[in-house]
Formats: sequence, C-alpha cells, structure tokens
Amino acid sequence: MAYEQRITDADLMQDEELLEKSIRPKRMEDYIGQKGVTDQLKVYIEAAKMRGETLDHVLFFGPPGLGKTTLAGIIANEMGVELKISAGPAITRQGDLAAILSNLGEGDVLFIDEIHRLSRNVEETLYSAMEDFAIDIVMGKGPMAETLRLGLPHFTLIGATTRSGSLSAPLRDRFGVLAKFDLYSDDELCQIIKRTAGILGIEIDEESTMQLAKRSRGTPRVANRLLKRVRDFAQVKYEGNINPDIVNITLDSLGIDSLGLDDLDRRILRLIIESFHGGPVGIDTIAASLGEERITLEDMYEPYLMQLGMLHRTPKSRIVTDKAYAHLGLPVPEYMRPGQPADDSDGEEQVKLW
Ligand SMILES: Nc1ncnc2c1ncn2[C@@H]1O[C@H](COP(=O)(O)OP(=O)(O)O)[C@@H](O)[C@H]1O
Ligand SMILES: [Mg+2]
Repeated sequence: MAYEQRITDADLMQDEELLEKSIRPKRMEDYIGQKGVTDQLKVYIEAAKMRGETLDHVLFFGPPGLGKTTLAGIIANEMGVELKISAGPAITRQGDLAAILSNLGEGDVLFIDEIHRLSRNVEETLYSAMEDFAIDIVMGKGPMAETLRLGLPHFTLIGATTRSGSLSAPLRDRFGVLAKFDLYSDDELCQIIKRTAGILGIEIDEESTMQLAKRSRGTPRVANRLLKRVRDFAQVKYEGNINPDIVNITLDSLGIDSLGLDDLDRRILRLIIESFHGGPVGIDTIAASLGEERITLEDMYEPYLMQLGMLHRTPKSRIVTDKAYAHLGLPVPEYMRPGQPADDSDGEEQVKLW
C-alpha cells in the first residue's frame, strides 16, 4: 500500500481537513492528556496574561498526530490572539518570512510546523525576530547593499518538530518553553474517541471504544480516523450499530492487528527477525531493505513499536525483543527466554531521538 494511503498514517489526509475542524478541541479543558505539557503551559499562559505580556516562544516535539497543531490553536484562543500557521518547507526565502512576520498582529501566535526544515538563512533571520522582534533586511547587492531594520509586533512563536535532535542548537536555545509530546494511553484515547463520537453523533459502546483505542497506536489522529471507518462500515453493512465484532471486522479488513500494528510495522519486525536474527541491525539497512525512508520509520513507526516494548533502539542500531517474536507467533530464541543471560540491548543506553 502506498505510504500516503496507509490508514495508520498519522499525517493528515486531504479529505479529513473539514472534519478536523469540527472535532479539534478549541479550549484547554477539552484537550485530553499530555498533562506534562498542558500543566506547565497553563501556568505560563496565566502569568503572561497577568503581566499583559506575550507568551514565551514554545517548541513542541513528538511524533505526528499527537495534537501539536491543536494545542497551538488552544494557546492562541486562551491568550485571546490570532493563530497564523506556516511550515518550514513553505518558507523558502528570507522575504517569505518577513512577509509572514510583518502581517502578525500584536501578541499573535505564529505556528511553524516542521520547523527543523527551515533553510539556513531563513532560520538565521528568525533568530533576531524571536529575540529582538526585529529583522534586518538586506536591500540591493554588492557594495550598494543597504541593511534595513524592520520592527515587528511582539509575537509568540510555536515551533513544531517530529524530532528535537534535528534542530540546530541556536534555534532550540531561543525557545523559552520546550514541550515533549508522548503517545497517549488507552484510557486517554478512549476519552478522545468518546468525545469525537459525541460530536459526530456516533453511538459506540465501552468495549468497542476500548478496542479502537488499543488499535490506534497511541495517536489521536489515528483513533479519530479508525472511528470514522468503523462508523462507515457499520452503516453500510450493519444498519449503523457499532459493536466489538464490527470493530474487529473493520480493523482486520484494514490490515490493522490487535495491537494496532499495520503491514509495515510487521514487515519491520519480520525483517529484523528473519534476516538479522533479531538484531542489532542499522536503521539505514532496515530502511533500504524495506524500500522506505529512514525518517518515516523513525518518526512514524518506531515510537509505537518501542512503546509496545517490541523494539529497542540505540543511536545507530535496532534490536527486537521477545515480545516481537511472540506477537508474530514466532518461536522466541533461547537467549531471549526468561532466565537466560541478558541480550545485547541490556546495558546499552537507550537514546531518545526526541
Ligand atoms: N489531546 C487531544 N484531545 C482531543 N483530541 C485531540 C488531542 N490531540 C489531538 N487530537 C485530535 O487529533 C487530531 C490530530 O491532532 P493535530 O493537532 O493535528 O496533531 P499534530 O499537529 O501533532 O500532528 C486533531 O484532529 C484532534 O482532533
Ligand atoms: Mg500538525
């Protein structure tokens, strides 16, 4: 299946944008989970409002579909300002950035998605915008060139990235608040599914909700998408009633297994097991063998496999655990069985890429 069409893809699909609008939480109290992030932000928002100042620049990092854009919108709402959205790859020239910045109103929030993909010179322009609320624009070329200093309104930059590791140190240092997004628990996903079902007028029982949550790979965007697929399936084939059987039938037909793994997840595990004896094997080798981008594997696939405890990663290499063998129904190798000497991954430091 083409990557763009994967049902478990946490990136936004085009036809989803309209629905997104209605189900995206708009206020802090509707935003479920990510307590570590929201608790600190609530304090900063409150403090900034009391002092009549803009909120410090904030960096969000974590896998796609976890609510970064949503939370940026909520922050703007809570601060009572406008949200302007752009993305790293869309701002190619210094002039693009100048145009965006000079169109901001006092106190507005500028959200830059995929901020690690800004070009060097745009990034450098951003430094002074973030620090001094001014940018220097070079007019003309050669000896006739003149620098013009352009004052900007005070604004809050919210940068989002799937990987804080790819951000340059000078950029990262200019953010006052760093917020790491984690995959959601099953209970949190249940709350999100119920909330979305309520908005869309879908009736769903507790058990079906839990089934869906468990198969949503810790990601609200996937949970909402699966809920809609199950609803469609129930409508067309079962007169609209959602029950655990229909959830199972629908998700099975989409190739999503009991833990939410899709075909590529299973291919990753199978490759490491069958071609590399369970690892360690380099991420580039895995990517090349599967014909996938390394970034796709690192950002969209590994976080969930790690959360399930099936995969360990060190800076360069990957290793699977007995859980991966068991899930695929393969015999667990001797050395991984309980009571056996520890495997290679023990003792090696687990490096988090975000
Ligand atoms: N904490 C949350 N509570 C409720 N719904 C959420 C939450 N986080 C994300 N969602 C839902 O998941 C979808 C994806 O969120 P989004 O903010 O676009 O993710 P990201 O920007 O991190 O890729 C949104 O439509 C939103 O409705
Ligand atoms: Mg987003």
